[in-house]
Amino acid sequence: MNSPTTSAAAVAPEAAPSPPPDTAALNELVVTTAPWAFQSLYVAAKLGLADALAHGPRTSEDLAQESNAHPGALYRFCRALEALGVLQELPGRTFATTPVGAALRSDAPGGLRYFIIVNGEESFSAWAQVMHTVRTGEAAFDHVYGMSHFAFLAKEAAPSAAFNAMAGTGAPAHVLAHHDFSGDRTVVDVGGGMGGLLAHLLERHQHLRGILLDTPAGVAQARDLLAARNVLDRAEVLGGSFFESVPQGGDCYILSRVIHDWDDDDALRILNTVRVAMGPRSRLLLIDKAIPQVAGFHPGKFSDLQMLVVLGGRERTLAELTALLEAAGFSATDVQMPEVGPGSPSAEALIQARVADYGA
Ligand SMILES: C[S@@+](CC[C@H](N)C(=O)[O-])C[C@H]1O[C@@H](n2cnc3c(N)ncnc32)[C@H](O)[C@@H]1O
Repeated sequence: MNSPTTSAAAVAPEAAPSPPPDTAALNELVVTTAPWAFQSLYVAAKLGLADALAHGPRTSEDLAQESNAHPGALYRFCRALEALGVLQELPGRTFATTPVGAALRSDAPGGLRYFIIVNGEESFSAWAQVMHTVRTGEAAFDHVYGMSHFAFLAKEAAPSAAFNAMAGTGAPAHVLAHHDFSGDRTVVDVGGGMGGLLAHLLERHQHLRGILLDTPAGVAQARDLLAARNVLDRAEVLGGSFFESVPQGGDCYILSRVIHDWDDDDALRILNTVRVAMGPRSRLLLIDKAIPQVAGFHPGKFSDLQMLVVLGGRERTLAELTALLEAAGFSATDVQMPEVGPGSPSAEALIQARVADYGA
């Protein structure tokens, strides 16, 4: 048994004094993460600079003319983007993309162009009121806009299109790359956005049929995407709400990056609606960032704040996700945690679950 003098709590203050300030390191953190850095990326994303540079270098004046920007101002943003490693500056105020900049193209995998646009616009306004969230635990977005982010997207066509494009091109297909769908006929992607993940699955598994459920605003461009990927003939697109009902008869139900948008009460409501639709043979595939319970960098620790400030949701640990599944009447039958590192920035876990009442 620990005596009071040897317990960790008693010795911690002496054993770990506050280290000396490293102002240079903090300064570097500030310079590379402050709004001027992110909003420079936003300018590049919004104006489509990477698309405009896809076929070779151009002057900032030429880029400004094409994108209706002020030439002097755009030159200065391009110079800052060079400093961030996004652009390369050549003689004569001419710019080219670096490999990092090329990832901002509309067709680049990962959907980062649209992710940056969404985060540079309405989410940015919410973050300006972050203290509201810190003091109340509520989404600052609702405080700023007087409505939830999804209610805002239902009303505003342009932000909704950017949000859908983000989810459409950024859906985590790699998480399901090795998943076995050979025994399935119908996959139901619940909250599947404009269908990027479903299109990927239907392309890859020719025997599958797919049902896409999302809000009417969420599926607004889904048929076009599925048609462009030549899988619309095997897909059904439903505009509805996963709080109301989810189609029955699926072999595999997917909830990808959905549960993290919601607090536990709403997450349980969604999981319950899905469970009611599922049969004895159905399985649920839940994809979300599972925050590891260890110190150090993990993208989920920041995505968690984004969920909190913008949506009132949360990223969860694996234990929290499985507890939530159990509370909704599921039992987890398989869990895959990703390797987190520079090559796997999205860091999503895959949890397979079945309805507990039917037996796992
Ligand atoms: C973060 S996105 C995830 C999209 C996609 N599953 C992915 O992996 O990228 C969350 C999705 O939930 C959808 N959503 C929000 N409320 C909904 C509701 N009540 N019913 C159905 N879908 C909803 C949004 O429109 C959005 O497409």
